[in-house]
Amino acid sequence: MARLPHAARLALSAGVLFLGTSTPLAAQRVSASSARMNRFVDSVLARLTLEEKLGQLTQYRGRFSLTGPQTPEAGAEDIRAGRVGSFLGVRGAAPTREMQQIAVTQSRTRIPLLFADDIIHGWRTIFPVPLAEAASFNPALAERTARIAAVEGAAAGIHWTFAPMVDITREPRWGRVVEGAGEDPYLGSAIAAAKVRGFQGASLRDSLSLMATAKHFVAYGAAEGGRDYNTTDVPLRTLHEMYLPPFHAAVNAGVKSIMAAFNQIDGVPMHANKALIDGVLRTRWGWDGILVSDYTGVMELLQHGLSADSGTVGRLSIDAGVDVDMVSNIFYKDLPREVRAGRLPVAVVDSAVRRVLRTKYELGLFDNPFKSSSEAREKALTLTSAHRAEARAAAQQSIVLLRNEGNVLPLAKSVKTVAVIGALADDARSALGGWAAAGRPEDAVTVLVGIRKAVGADTRVLYAPGAPVEAADTTGFAEAVRIAREADVVVMVVGEHQDMSAEARNRSSLDVPGVQQQLVERVHAVGKPTVAVLMNGRPLSIPWMVQHVPAIVESWYLGVEHGNAVADVLFGAVNPSGRLPITFPRTVGQVPIYYNHMNTGRPSDEKERYTSKYFDIPFTPLYAFGHGLSYTTFRYSAPTLSRSKGTTADSVTVSVTVTNTGARSGDEVVQLYVRDDAGSVSRPVKELKGFRRISLAAGASETVTFRLTPDELSFYGAQYRRVIEPGTFTIMVGPSSDRVQSTTLELTGRTRVLDARSIR
Ligand code: BGC
Repeated sequence: MARLPHAARLALSAGVLFLGTSTPLAAQRVSASSARMNRFVDSVLARLTLEEKLGQLTQYRGRFSLTGPQTPEAGAEDIRAGRVGSFLGVRGAAPTREMQQIAVTQSRTRIPLLFADDIIHGWRTIFPVPLAEAASFNPALAERTARIAAVEGAAAGIHWTFAPMVDITREPRWGRVVEGAGEDPYLGSAIAAAKVRGFQGASLRDSLSLMATAKHFVAYGAAEGGRDYNTTDVPLRTLHEMYLPPFHAAVNAGVKSIMAAFNQIDGVPMHANKALIDGVLRTRWGWDGILVSDYTGVMELLQHGLSADSGTVGRLSIDAGVDVDMVSNIFYKDLPREVRAGRLPVAVVDSAVRRVLRTKYELGLFDNPFKSSSEAREKALTLTSAHRAEARAAAQQSIVLLRNEGNVLPLAKSVKTVAVIGALADDARSALGGWAAAGRPEDAVTVLVGIRKAVGADTRVLYAPGAPVEAADTTGFAEAVRIAREADVVVMVVGEHQDMSAEARNRSSLDVPGVQQQLVERVHAVGKPTVAVLMNGRPLSIPWMVQHVPAIVESWYLGVEHGNAVADVLFGAVNPSGRLPITFPRTVGQVPIYYNHMNTGRPSDEKERYTSKYFDIPFTPLYAFGHGLSYTTFRYSAPTLSRSKGTTADSVTVSVTVTNTGARSGDEVVQLYVRDDAGSVSRPVKELKGFRRISLAAGASETVTFRLTPDELSFYGAQYRRVIEPGTFTIMVGPSSDRVQSTTLELTGRTRVLDARSIR
């Protein structure tokens, strides 16, 4: 690759932008002021041809990304010709620097490229998958892991991550449930904001910040039947109260980019949904970042049936508010025709280009197109021991103890023989989970290795895979049974391999796949104390295990420190504290099942025939949202209110005293739920409105106080406006959504309108 000419190097390092090969057409010091930024951006825009403008809106893929149809890759010639504004999946300081060099020295526009990637739960230091991390109920932790991911990714030349995925879902069949924070909009919003803060850091200009992307806008998690990309059927209030809030939280946290979703809502595909992109995001919320399409999302409007003509779908998409066309190449190829024929005002193109140029400016790329990426920094900042330590802490807090009958756990370190059984126990790739970016299996600690490291020299650790994860092969059963007989305790690691919970990896069953269930039954029959460690990225239906296996540990996919964290919990170095961010059904037939459902006119009652339930299984879930046990016990006082009566304008505080009544210290996640007892429209039976993770030494107590604001008690009333209505509210506090104590708050006065704009 040719070196930058000396004069050009000097100019770039002085923060000067050139357009053209020799004459500086726009030369301005880059400043923080937005007026100056806008002047700068306008001056650049004024000098671009229509094709160059559309080039800025065009994203090509590099060799590390293929999540849909094979689309062309772009080479040096495309960069020189100004056909590329950004890349997805070009990885590493060396290749990104090389391509950037071409853009800023050999193209006519000299405009730097943006490098994007899916940095979902770490770059090389892989943290727990998002669903697992949500189980920590710890936004501060989620922010720290995003910060580390940003540092490592930025050092490798990336500017822009396609995370966090903030899609709420009530669909465990959906493969991408693993990528989000679960079923609850309040928890999801807290995590969304934390992730945005972590990725973007104090300022996008910082050399180690990444631009975050809240995705997929919107209701992608509502895919019918759990089938990825599928149609949704979402009522307006549900859209605004369940699916939109995490996006709003991300916007309020300053997210600079949002990705459109593959699905359609009420007949309008999201890549052409002007009412939601332009109407809600840009107008109602005042958001001014860049809206990126999903992979071939613009092209897919053809399949959605909006038109048979690619120019038309491109026009509909950019007009709806999509700024960047990820790999469809329709904006670049077809929009010139639309503009020249007068069907698309060039002003629409200009608005999108302005947003892209502003982003590049805000990232500081016009000042320094290479930011801090270098091979040396990449080495120095990646997979450091501090990052690994954070990964272990995150993994520990993400583990959920589902069951512990007879206190089988924690295991004694002095146990003579442990039998570890299950293919997943030795599967380093699965420990990382999907979307593992630059993660490497050789960096990951498996459960088998973690247990070997945790036990003393006198403990024998035996291992047998027993059965493959998916195939119906029982030939390994005999060996598994044999080592179980030799052991004092058996640890069975079962579940899904990492590629079973991923994009397009939807399941019609939530049972443990393959013959693993049979394996558990055979080994359990040996009669040794048995612990099941689950690895999975979605709720699993495990009713047999819940009846027969005394201890069950939900470990999800925890990243590079998976096995160490699991061993920390198994042998009691760490007291488990995670809570389920999503309901676990008894069987797939209960889906959709979620805690914040509406009541019915005939609420479920096992004893009454004509109520809303099943006649063949209980209506309750296997494990409720918020469930998770500890090695110690906690006692909750009844909740008290700062005042039990108030007006619709008042805030109220809710207090509860939690005491660690067991023999060891532990963390507890205190949860606050609210129900509006009677409203102008029906309200959910409970909604999370606060949570707090606290650490309590044995015997210690703490009073936890939550502030409930009118905003948190509001909803979209009969007129589709955000209101708070007088009446009574049931205020509930407890360790899980199904174990609460309650009190009543009464609000008097008038219905208050918090936002007069109707959502209809
Ligand atoms: C996914 C996005 C992802 C993109 C780029 C798509 O298939 O839906 O979440 O960011 O690919 O890899």
